[in-house]
Amino acid sequence: MSEKNFYITTPIYYPSGKLHIGSAYTTIACDVLARYKRLMGYDVFYLTGLDEHGQKIQSKAEEAGVSPQAYVDGMAASVKELWELLDISYDKFIRTTDDYHEEVVAAVFEKLLAQDDIYLGEYAGWYSVSDEEFFTESQLAEVFRDENGKVTGGIAPSGHEVEWVSEESYFLRLSKYQDWLADFFKSQPDFISPDSRMNEMLKNFIEPGLEDLAVSRTTFTWGVPVPSNPKHVVYVWIDALLNYATALGYGQDNHANFDKFWNGTVYHMVGKDILRFHSIYWPIILKMLDLKLPDRLIAHGWFVMQDGKMSKSKGNVVYPEMLVERYGLDPLRYYLMRSLPVGSDGTFTPEDYVGRINYELANDLGNLLNRTVAMINKYFDGQVPSYQENVTDFDASLAEAAEQAVADYHKYMEAVDYPRTLEAVWNLIARTNKYIDETAPWVLAKDESKREQLASVMSHLAASLRLVAHMIEPFMMTTSRAVLEQLGMEPVASLENLALADLPTGLTVVAKGTPIFPRLDMDEEIAYIKEQMSAGKPAADKVWMPEEVELTLNRKEIKFDDFDKVEIRVAEVKEVSKVAGSEKLLQFRLDAGDGEDRQILSGIAKFYPNEQELVGKKVQIVANLKPRKMLGHISQGMILSAEHGDNLTLLTVDDSVPNGSLIG
Ligand code: ME8
Ligand code: MG
Repeated sequence: MSEKNFYITTPIYYPSGKLHIGSAYTTIACDVLARYKRLMGYDVFYLTGLDEHGQKIQSKAEEAGVSPQAYVDGMAASVKELWELLDISYDKFIRTTDDYHEEVVAAVFEKLLAQDDIYLGEYAGWYSVSDEEFFTESQLAEVFRDENGKVTGGIAPSGHEVEWVSEESYFLRLSKYQDWLADFFKSQPDFISPDSRMNEMLKNFIEPGLEDLAVSRTTFTWGVPVPSNPKHVVYVWIDALLNYATALGYGQDNHANFDKFWNGTVYHMVGKDILRFHSIYWPIILKMLDLKLPDRLIAHGWFVMQDGKMSKSKGNVVYPEMLVERYGLDPLRYYLMRSLPVGSDGTFTPEDYVGRINYELANDLGNLLNRTVAMINKYFDGQVPSYQENVTDFDASLAEAAEQAVADYHKYMEAVDYPRTLEAVWNLIARTNKYIDETAPWVLAKDESKREQLASVMSHLAASLRLVAHMIEPFMMTTSRAVLEQLGMEPVASLENLALADLPTGLTVVAKGTPIFPRLDMDEEIAYIKEQMSAGKPAADKVWMPEEVELTLNRKEIKFDDFDKVEIRVAEVKEVSKVAGSEKLLQFRLDAGDGEDRQILSGIAKFYPNEQELVGKKVQIVANLKPRKMLGHISQGMILSAEHGDNLTLLTVDDSVPNGSLIG
């Protein structure tokens, strides 16, 4: 098998509510690694998906008044839409309700039963529905007692309430594999990163002794039934963990991907909350099935808020959609990857979010690009001079900094340490900004005898930005492309053998550079994010439902008055342009017949690659929508379009209809 087959997985998330920046973090983190490895010449398979069975999902669907299947179908559609918004390059999206997966889960359960790794017994213990997990009394964070001191209930470490559950259950013989697992941990010191977590698992769970695990339930039905005893459904964690194998075709007729990728390098990325399941249960299941173990479990900490864990009732939840709409995708990907230190928790703050956009993206990187493009235009008519070594006194030291940055970049990428990876890139950006100050091109430009030195400075700036654009490509695809485009260079094709000296010759920069990041008003934007966070606080204890489910199952009737509030008018497109920093948005200037120019931003760029064809068209707009800011631009309304399949078409009106006509 090739060394260069790489399999990376996210956890499969519970679709029990709208996903927040926590799940976005893990999914982007895996996306960065997938993109990096592809550009390093690997054949990559990137898996994500949903964990759709279990009591929690069944209850959510009941509260919402829909069937569990309808509920998860709606959620799956909305999660896929989110991953599209975040430009996640997954190769497969698995749902544990997929037939092929359910069939293999049932077969594996029967196989383990037949080989006596699973047996029937009786279970009693404290159960948390939210965590889908049993706890012993001593594991509970809090216990409730009656006046006689008898324990009547308690709270799990996650903060969720537990209930006493007693039922017939199948058990997985973990105890039998305890010594094997301890030996495996010791023989594979790199199995879990960071190292500290490996010790935590050994000391807290393995060495005190593994108890057999209850792996079936009879108290609810939303799961995979045990074929030989269908009043039991398979425990959601056994069902869930197997996704990593079934997604590749394990246990199915077509298992080519399993043969290829499971025998390559296998990484699972997980939050610290679920490391125990991945480092103990999963290796033991694989051992029972006589399968190879993954190469590495990467456990990351949590994004928390200043007032603790994100929770809807606290009104401190941050949803990715809001941040992308207002600031664009790249700042979100950058912020999340740069701000969570390896192995520990990180705090999300609006101050930090806006600050990083202004200082690190707009200032450090954005300015370097602007200055470079402007100077190459001014001094060399836009032609990038060719690269030569050691012309100015400062060239060697910049070249050294570039070499160091590239080496650090790969080292930290391999370690999946994104804060340090990005720090290495930003060190080079800072060093390059300093190089401009040191070489003072505006002074060199005044002296004709310094022409060669001036040329060298320009080529070094372009060469350094080229490296930066390459290194940020897995993190910020739009920005990488925008930087390269402004310098007249091709998009990144590979991250192997990056060198400053490899500047292509004959490049022409754009005549006028556009800022790649909006500069933000700190106070205004901090206030905006805070307001959006508290707006997420539910008025009552309403179940969040994806629109698709509401539409198909609970189609809401509205009163005529409600419809009458919406002001739809005919407007003519006067101008249209692409929006810097976004591949989705188009910016329109429209005449809606009220004598004023109206600006609307619309996420339809990919459906109108030749956007100029829209100029002069009459479209329909919602004219009384509250204005909102997107990527630093005001949008005053919405242009109506029709969705059909994966396509989208703007609704146009006959030319004879005057601008401003009311539609209704
Ligand atoms: O545990 N910060 O699903 P889940 C960072 N279905 N990451 C966070 C986070 C935060 N605040 N909150 C969530 C499950 N995550 C199971 C997994 S896998 C076979 C089954 C991320 O929806 C993090 O990756 O509760 C965490 O491990 C995962 O979401 C938990 O997702
Ligand atoms: Mg969880």
